[in-house]
Amino acid sequence: MNLRLPIVAALLATFAGGPLAADPLRDRAKGLFEVIPTTPPPLRGAPASPEKLALGKMLYFDTRISENHDISCSTCHNLAMGGVDGRSSSVGHTGQLGGRKVLTVLNAVFNKAQFWDGRAEDLESQVTMSVMAFPSALLKSRGGPVIPSAELTKATKDHAVAQLKGIPGYVEAFGKAFPGEGDPITYDNVAKAIAAFESTLITPGAPFDLWLLGDDAALSDTQKLGLSLFIEKGCADCHNGINIGGGQFARFGSMQSPGTDVLPSDDWGRFAITRDVADKYVFKVPSLRNITLTAPYFHNGHEWSLRQAVSVMGAAQLGNKLTDSEIDRIVEFLESLTGKQPEIVLPILPPRVGSTPRPAQ
Ligand code: HEC
Ligand code: HEC
Repeated sequence: MNLRLPIVAALLATFAGGPLAADPLRDRAKGLFEVIPTTPPPLRGAPASPEKLALGKMLYFDTRISENHDISCSTCHNLAMGGVDGRSSSVGHTGQLGGRKVLTVLNAVFNKAQFWDGRAEDLESQVTMSVMAFPSALLKSRGGPVIPSAELTKATKDHAVAQLKGIPGYVEAFGKAFPGEGDPITYDNVAKAIAAFESTLITPGAPFDLWLLGDDAALSDTQKLGLSLFIEKGCADCHNGINIGGGQFARFGSMQSPGTDVLPSDDWGRFAITRDVADKYVFKVPSLRNITLTAPYFHNGHEWSLRQAVSVMGAAQLGNKLTDSEIDRIVEFLESLTGKQPEIVLPILPPRVGSTPRPAQ
């Protein structure tokens, strides 16, 4: 409640057309969070050429790089649905279910590590490493953590490269995107092009960002109260930075185990990567940007309601049973994190010719 006064004072100052009064909540928030820029950051310091971006966009939507020609990045990372598929487990090769809930591609460029267990450092190595790009490998490796074996990865990479080499329009597009390279259709270049396109998938202009930039009316009073709870209760200790998450790892159940229904024992998160017992049940703290668009929640997609996910977090991560009205306020604040979605004009994909390899099935 002590935050109401400064908020009201700031609002009055705005209405009076005068300079903004000091706002301790905004000052505090500015130290914890960052605004999403309106233009995408260049990958590895080098801006992508328009040709590379155009190629990456085509590949993102092209199902022909999967073995049965039925899955593309867009199948699981649907840009009409916040960059996810709305399922607790993605459907891939031959209808198999993957082990984890999909993470959105939106703003992924700002994450310090990719995947629930952080096994890829950046977007390029993420595509190269491939869970993504090789949905078949991802799904065939079901049972353990989603790390495709080297052989599966090689087979799916070889398939993608052979397919692209068999489509004249792609031979031309790769030549333009990677000028001066003798043999530009390589899997690494597929990854580079897709990563360049992915880096453009950012969502600036969320009400929270507008408020951080000084527009007092961008957040309602309830949302401001929610923000102050988010900070005071400790959510922002983990969910902070530009993506309100995405910057660190934490144990799911750091204060109190959320129970085996929420957290079953068949996925130990980072432990599978580091083999360090201290990493059991440690996952990447996910970004909360656009969180209203990306249900269900948690790495296993267990929770379908954002209220319930927030309630679980209070108990599991803070050892604090949040009241209904605290949860409502926090959820209202989280709603202010939905930004302007990228406007995508669908690419027209180059057609196959008679000699282009056919789908495996
Ligand atoms: C069959 C479904 C499926 C397909 C197809 C797919 N993905 Fe994913 N993607 C996932 C799942 C599931 C995760 C989370 C896996 C994990 O963390 O273990 C994920 C994670 C990611 C992440 C990490 C985001 C983060 O915050 O860490 C990125 C980026 C990504 N995918 C991009 C892509 C791209 C690019 C393609 C196409 C080349 C692609 N994906 C194809 C299901 C899919
Ligand atoms: C100790 C670090 C930590 C704290 C504190 C914390 N979280 Fe989380 N949060 C995580 C981790 C780790 C996950 C991923 C858990 C999983 O799925 O394995 C997560 C997941 C979430 C999710 C689901 C996101 C998704 O995409 O599935 C929401 C929503 C969330 N947190 C909100 C909150 C709120 C609200 C608070 C404060 C009440 C909070 N968190 C406190 C670490 C933390």
